[in-house]
Amino acid sequence: MKDCLPEKISWITNPGARQPSTSKANTSSFNATATGHARRFHRSLPTFQPTPLADLDRLARHLGVASIRVKDESHRCGLNAFKILGASYALSWHLAQKLDLPAENLSFTEFQSPRVSARISEFTCITATDGNHGRAVAWAARQLGCSAVILMPRGTTRARLESIKALGADTSIIDGNYDDAVQLAAGQARRNGWLLIQDTAWSDYEDIPLRVMQGYLTMFDEALEQAGPEAPTHVFIQCGVGSLSGSLQGYLVEKYGDRRPLLTVVEPTRAACYYRSIQAEDGKPHRVDGKLDTIMAGLACGDPSVIAWELLRDYADVFAACPDAVAATGMRVLGNPLAGDDRVISGESGAVTLGLVVNLLRHPELEAMKKALNINSDARILLFSTEGDTDPELYRKIVWN
Ligand SMILES: Cc1ncc(COP(=O)(O)O)c(C=O)c1O
Repeated sequence: MKDCLPEKISWITNPGARQPSTSKANTSSFNATATGHARRFHRSLPTFQPTPLADLDRLARHLGVASIRVKDESHRCGLNAFKILGASYALSWHLAQKLDLPAENLSFTEFQSPRVSARISEFTCITATDGNHGRAVAWAARQLGCSAVILMPRGTTRARLESIKALGADTSIIDGNYDDAVQLAAGQARRNGWLLIQDTAWSDYEDIPLRVMQGYLTMFDEALEQAGPEAPTHVFIQCGVGSLSGSLQGYLVEKYGDRRPLLTVVEPTRAACYYRSIQAEDGKPHRVDGKLDTIMAGLACGDPSVIAWELLRDYADVFAACPDAVAATGMRVLGNPLAGDDRVISGESGAVTLGLVVNLLRHPELEAMKKALNINSDARILLFSTEGDTDPELYRKIVWN
């Protein structure tokens, strides 16, 4: 571990990541077949289009690497974030099970027949969210025709609350943090017989979050298809509960095996539960308590998902904890590109990885991290801007001030 000025980025390498072992977490849920299922399902969604892969060639040259590419999820289904990929897949899969529809080769159109849609209207789903996942669940519930109840943590901005309410969901802010909201949602689901569509897993709740993670496979696969034949050498991914990064890690292991790109998992300093867990060196996930105070609302989670934890513990190469200023740097650079580069409007949780890359390649204080990652002029870097300006006023405040 090393604390680095000027922005106090902490990082730690994971010594077991490249060591072969038969007892490592199983990645087969993220293989090519699972990816094909997710992609086919998403193609059947109304308004579905692949999102663009932005080329930041000038920036790459400026920073001394071969390429920087950023998947721009602000264009995803008009929802300004990637989360619909997981929510739509998991909710449809769960409803298919309840209605005895074939869950393999799921297609959105199967839910549209009058017989099926009449039955769906009897269901209510519930979730806890810091914004994007709840909006995605509300959107999917509306498309499929069931009711949705959404719980949000204390400190949620009005804009995020209203954007979910506008989709017809029963939405409220609770007196507690994200992890409290998850527990509350699980309790209400149990008591009322509602479907809990949560994007994090715990010991007796794994099926739905696994489907959420499989839904994210569409984004990774689109990106690598768009990137062309030369695979990235380095991928940086932002992390809240870890379903996004765990799914990506599983996908990379399945696709590339030992020749996979180096993966760096990036968290906010005040909600760095994976960083802390790796630092503890006991193989167990450790939670971070408290307010989890950060502008990166989507990453403000203190409790690792049990599925994601095992994948990242066993395979991810580096873990980094970043203060809010790093996310702000990423937002500014992506929103104000060098002439000739694509512009990406990236929100607080979407931009932290680019902020880290910019710091890493510019500041001698981070030379040791650059070396540990073996980043040189041949590096091909892939990032995911997982949200646009999901809270436009906050976006403007951060970028301008
Ligand atoms: C925009 C955005 N990016 C990344 C993440 C992180 O995903 P996960 O919580 O699965 O780690 C989230 C989670 O809500 C998010 O909203």
